[in-house]
Amino acid sequence: MNATSAASFNERIIEEFRANNGKVGGMFDGVPLVLITTAGRKTGRPRTTPVVHLRDGDRHLVFGSNAGGPEHPQWYHNIVANPQVTLEIGTTDGVRALATRAVVLEGEERDHWYERQCALEPGFRAYQEKTTRTIPVVALYPLDLSADPARNRVIGEQLIRHHEDLRAELRDVRARIDDLLAGGPQAAEPDRPADLAAQLRRHCLTFCYGLHLHHTRENGAFSAFEEEFPHLVPVIERLRAEHRVMEKALTELETLLGDESADDLEHLRDELDRLVAGLEDHFAAEEASLLPAVGVTPPHRGGR
Ligand SMILES: [Fe+2]
Ligand SMILES: [Fe+2]
Repeated sequence: MNATSAASFNERIIEEFRANNGKVGGMFDGVPLVLITTAGRKTGRPRTTPVVHLRDGDRHLVFGSNAGGPEHPQWYHNIVANPQVTLEIGTTDGVRALATRAVVLEGEERDHWYERQCALEPGFRAYQEKTTRTIPVVALYPLDLSADPARNRVIGEQLIRHHEDLRAELRDVRARIDDLLAGGPQAAEPDRPADLAAQLRRHCLTFCYGLHLHHTRENGAFSAFEEEFPHLVPVIERLRAEHRVMEKALTELETLLGDESADDLEHLRDELDRLVAGLEDHFAAEEASLLPAVGVTPPHRGGR
């Protein structure tokens, strides 16, 4: 299977998984699949992959078999670069996203769990026989807000910082678009407007991937907040719904930005503005509702 058909094969599995409470038919009927989303180590783009998992208490073990191929899967390299992983698991009420931290198992522990997986699914023994590399075993530990109030505060402070970074990137992208539309940098470099438009597109895409990743990770963290602070369930439902609306706009914008022939900057600016309308209110609502629960005072931003 080439890279393009492998990608669309994965997309179909992901779609079916999300539409059917985590169940996928055909060759995956009865296979314990989960979805993992990692941050692309070069682009920061969220990358979702279906993988087989094995439960061990609260943690979930996943295996970088790559069907016995010669290379580790991309998601494994992404995890080594950044261990924050969003895990989606099927439940009777739908698919639940969990924020997790990945730890690559080593030595005897790795061997023990790989052997356990081979006993359950003999295909994994065949994968190991096909390759000289040691197939990685990765443990995913879900975020637990009942464990450590000091850590909860760190999570709250990270939320503020991420929002500030995203705001700054957005301001920068908007200013670059306005500059180009006003003919500023083009006037300075009249021979290279196409290069500048391409640079802008890349810059804008980086912002979109960053926001996309932020939402994906938050969707996972929301589950931990709901579990520990049930009074937040209604507000989190609203925040999730806002994510869904923004995700749709983000995906459309990413498609537009990926089209090299599209050079209509005004259209791009309008699409970007459409995406971010309401983003400030969303950030403020998130901070006002989630931060007090983890012992952090929300910054004053006005809004709702
Ligand atoms: Fe959010
Ligand atoms: Fe947020």
